[in-house]
Amino acid sequence: MELEHIVPWGRSYDEYVAMFSLESPERCGAFLGCGDGPAAFNAVLTAQGGHVVSVDPLYRWGRAPIAERIRDTAPTLMRQVEACQDQFEWNQIASPDALRQTRLHSMDIFLADYEAGRRAGRYVTAALPHLPFPPGHFDQVLCSHVLFTYSAQLDFTFHLAALRAMARAGRELRVFPLVTLKGELSPHLEAARRALGSEGMDSELCPVSYRFQRGATHMLRVFPPPR
Ligand SMILES: C[S@@+](CC[C@H](N)C(=O)[O-])C[C@H]1O[C@@H](n2cnc3c(N)ncnc32)[C@H](O)[C@@H]1O
Repeated sequence: MELEHIVPWGRSYDEYVAMFSLESPERCGAFLGCGDGPAAFNAVLTAQGGHVVSVDPLYRWGRAPIAERIRDTAPTLMRQVEACQDQFEWNQIASPDALRQTRLHSMDIFLADYEAGRRAGRYVTAALPHLPFPPGHFDQVLCSHVLFTYSAQLDFTFHLAALRAMARAGRELRVFPLVTLKGELSPHLEAARRALGSEGMDSELCPVSYRFQRGATHMLRVFPPPR
């Protein structure tokens, strides 16, 4: 993966809380965020006294090249959003301008925390489906806008391997959204749930309060068997 092929785009702490229906995450034990990229969840939760490790292939680069890449790619991304505004609900995020502000602010929070967090082992370079943690290391594993979003680019085998790896790393896994970039339910979702179920992992679809992409109304919860 080369940096010039990556478009960094990070959500806010409040968006993570709403996407994953988290209650008092600073008291929920240790989180693993998979594919957190430049989101603010790690920085804010850590500042609030919580425990979280984020993994992303983006973290092989330092702060300066990531900041430069954000600055270079944000205008293109915003033009894309503006060109397909009907794919989003403009309520919780009121307008494209509000979106740009919240995303850039979240990524600034990430950038301010990034080098200290890297040194502390809170930002770890890794790529699904390979996670460098022992089984059950985390209480809660989260994955926002990586699986299912890119169902056209990442095949079923990748999705299942990534879900297995994330479920193995924690006591519970939550994934959001369950729809593709086109807003359609991922073709991989039910087959993956059946495969996980046959391996003893129950799962459920839960409504969440977060609203932005049309059709993205539920998260997947996966419960690995107790170890
Ligand atoms: C759309 S961004 C989502 C960022 C963040 N989770 C959020 O919701 O704001 C997708 C992220 O997935 C990361 N990514 C791409 N391939 C990955 C992989 N194999 N394993 C983990 N993360 C990956 C990208 O680097 C990028 O940061």
